[in-house]
Amino acid sequence: LPDGEPVGIRTTSVLVENVEQVLRQYAAEVEAEMATIVEDEVADTWMRQAIGYHLGWLDADFRPLNEEVGRSGGKKLRPALAILSYRAAALGPHGRAWLADDLSRVLPFAAALELLHNYTLIHDDIQDDDRTRRGRPTLWTICGTAQAINVGNCLHAISLHCLERLANRGFDAADVARLSAALAHASVELAIGQRRDLAFENEQDVGPGVYLEMVAGKTAGLLRCASYGGALLATDGSRPGAAKSLTAFGEFGMHLGLAFQIRDDVLGIWGAEEDTGKPSGSDIRRRKKSLPIIFALQAASEEAFEQLSALYSLGGELTTSEEACVRRILGSCAAAALAQSQAEEQRERALSALGWAAGNGETLRTNPFLANLAELADFVTHRSS
Ligand code: IPE
Ligand code: IPE
Ligand code: MG
Ligand code: MG
Repeated sequence: LPDGEPVGIRTTSVLVENVEQVLRQYAAEVEAEMATIVEDEVADTWMRQAIGYHLGWLDADFRPLNEEVGRSGGKKLRPALAILSYRAAALGPHGRAWLADDLSRVLPFAAALELLHNYTLIHDDIQDDDRTRRGRPTLWTICGTAQAINVGNCLHAISLHCLERLANRGFDAADVARLSAALAHASVELAIGQRRDLAFENEQDVGPGVYLEMVAGKTAGLLRCASYGGALLATDGSRPGAAKSLTAFGEFGMHLGLAFQIRDDVLGIWGAEEDTGKPSGSDIRRRKKSLPIIFALQAASEEAFEQLSALYSLGGELTTSEEACVRRILGSCAAAALAQSQAEEQRERALSALGWAAGNGETLRTNPFLANLAELADFVTHRSS
C-alpha cells in the first residue's frame, strides 16, 4: 500500500453482539440463494441430500433439520465479509451508491464463496481425519471418504455456476470475469495452502513466517477474495483511486483472514467444544504446526523444547498423556498469549488497510458498513465459536 497516513479506522470497544446480528441477518438471505442454486444445478437426489446434510439443512437420514439458521450451517463469515465490503464500497468515494441497499445483486457472489468454503471443509475433514464439525458428525463419517470427496467436488463446481447469475443482476461481463478469476485464484492458493499445512506435520523447521504464508493460502486468500470481490461489484472502476481502494479492501480481507485462522488455532487447543463444534485438541493429537506450537518451539526452555520436538517428530497420533504433556509445555511458555498477540497484530493491519479502502475523508460515522467491517475484524480476533 502507498506510504502516508491512511484514514484511521479504530474501534473503541468490541461490539460482538452487533456484528453477530449482522452475520445472522445475512446468513438467512445467503442460505436462500444457496438453496436455489443447489436445486437448479444438482439433478441427482442423493447428491442434493448429501449437500443438504453437510450444510445443516438435513439430518443423517436426510430428513429436514429445521434448525435456526447458522446453528449447524456455520457462521457465514465469508458472505458477510463480501456483503459488507460491497455495501461499504457502494457508499464510498468510488462507489455506485444506489447499490448499497440492493443485496440481491451481491448474493450470488456471497453464495459462491460459502459453497466453495464448504467444499474445502468437506475435504479438510477427510484430510485431517476429523469426525466432528459444527457439532455434528462430518460428512465422510456418514457416507465414506470416497463419496464425500464427490460431494466436495460438486460444491466447488456449483460455486462457479453461482457467478453466472451476476450477469442477470446488472453487472457487466468484464467485472464478472475479474471476479471469476479472483475466485479461481483463491481456490488454487487454497489447495496449495492445504498441501503445505499437511506437509508441515512432518517438517521440523516451521517458523512463523512460513506459517503465515501457508495460512495466506489455506484461509486468508478466500477472505481477501470476499472483500475485494464484494467491493469490486459496487465500485465504479473509472473513478480516480478506485484501483487503490480495491487493493486495500483485498488487504483488509487478507489480514482479517490471518487473524481469523490464528484465533482458530488458539480455539483448536483452548476453545470449548460446545462453542466451536469441533473436537478440542485434535490439532495437537495430529501434530499440526499451529501457531501456538510454533511459538512454543521458539520460547520453551531447553528441556521443554527437547520434549516438544521429540513428541512432534513421532509418527501417528499423540496419546492422551502426550497431549497433556504438550499442553503443559504450551502453558509454561504462554504460547496462547503469544499467538493471540499475533492475531491482534493482524487485526491492526486489517484496520489500517480499511482506512485506505475507505478513501480519504470517509468516516465511520457516514459509512456504517465500514464500522461493521471494523467490528468484524474485532469479532474474528476475539471470537469463541
Ligand atoms: C473453518 O472456518 C475453517 C477455517 C478456515 C478455520 P469457519 O470457522 O468459518 O467455519 P464455519 O463455516 O463457520 O463452520
Ligand atoms: C482450515 O483448515 C482451512 C480450510 C478448511 C481450507 P483447518 O484444518 O485449520 O480448520 P478446522 O479447524 O478443521 O476448521
Ligand atoms: Mg481441519
Ligand atoms: Mg486442515
